Amino acid sequence: MKVRRLEIAHFRNLKHVVFVPGPFSNVIYGENAQGKTNLLESIWMFTGARSFRGAREAELIEFDAEYASLTMQFDTGPRSGQEAEIRYNNNRRSILLNGVERGASTLYDTFRAVLFAPEHLSLIRGTPEQRRNFLDAGLCQAYPRYLAVVRQYRRALQQRNALLKDLPRNASLLDTLDIWDRRLATAGGMLAMGRAGYVKRLDRRVRQAYGGISQYKEEFSVAYRCGAFGGEKPGNDEEAAVLLHLALKRARREDMKAGFTTVGPHRDDVEMTLETRPARMYASQGQCRSAVIALKLAEAASLRDICGEAPVVLLDDVMSELDESRQEYLLNHIGMFQTFLTCCDPENIRRLRGGKRFLMREGELTADDA
Ligand SMILES: Nc1ncnc2c1ncn2[C@@H]1O[C@H](COP(=O)(O)OP(=O)(O)O)[C@@H](O)[C@H]1O
Ligand SMILES: [Mg+2]
Repeated sequence: MKVRRLEIAHFRNLKHVVFVPGPFSNVIYGENAQGKTNLLESIWMFTGARSFRGAREAELIEFDAEYASLTMQFDTGPRSGQEAEIRYNNNRRSILLNGVERGASTLYDTFRAVLFAPEHLSLIRGTPEQRRNFLDAGLCQAYPRYLAVVRQYRRALQQRNALLKDLPRNASLLDTLDIWDRRLATAGGMLAMGRAGYVKRLDRRVRQAYGGISQYKEEFSVAYRCGAFGGEKPGNDEEAAVLLHLALKRARREDMKAGFTTVGPHRDDVEMTLETRPARMYASQGQCRSAVIALKLAEAASLRDICGEAPVVLLDDVMSELDESRQEYLLNHIGMFQTFLTCCDPENIRRLRGGKRFLMREGELTADDA
């Protein structure tokens, strides 16, 4: 995946930008509030036309402008010279791929990117839910068929929880509970196995990435922990569904008391280990940052392993709090990914070898050939 050219009109503070990046490292530097993150956000929009800042569409259009448009030429695998356009106008969004109007899901299947943003730093010490979301996002991007599995699981869980709340008033619903147990177990078995396989791949890659960032002085690894499996290791989706079904049955009394489902993949976690200890409890600020960056690079490498093509890598404000050798690694050793890295302090990018640099100032981008 390579972005060849991006033309931006009236997107946030980017009035008119023509961005022609290089095939590998691209550094965008500039002071605060100049538009660097907005530029990365504009690239991210091509992964499915949704902002990573959870912004509403109206916020994306430049203040007082009528419309916003993003036009990107990019290469994917064997197909070079593709063009996608996203346009916001009068509360209407339109997406064109090679001149044909398409839905957002077509973009999702076509353009792949991995993003590090400072708000992801909480991945290590934050809630299990954040880690599950990270996992499911990576899983679904790599294997789009899991989108339906995640949805099925979520729906079955909602239904079962609603039923558990109604049961005290209506005992005749007990038979229905059996149905939802089975559905939840079937979708949950698939989801848990998908996650487990994905985390195994991720683990291989994250060890390498963290090793590189820390110059092989420290070890970082990840493992999937599925509470409903107990100590068992199911060999396939069906075995996983059977174990989950048993766990649901065992938990039934407790679930009825609680009024919600207390076991299953929605309670799982990704265990993250730094050296031999839980990273959640012992990692320093800088180690957390390195670990999250390593997770994102591992996500990108896994995506490349699975889909046969490297996604683009967006790194927003990664440099602060990293020592020189870690910065050097990010600037020069991310290998075959096309990367877009923002930072404030131009001092940080002195060590960039090759690659391209750009200055962002008040929404205007200039290539810096110095
Ligand atoms: N819809 C919009 N129209 C114009 N300016 C906007 C819009 N949304 C955000 N901005 C401005 O963009 C600037 C922030 O840009 P950002 O890319 O986050 O900066 P940074 O260079 O620090 O990453 C702020 O000054 C903000 O007011
Ligand atoms: Mg920013």
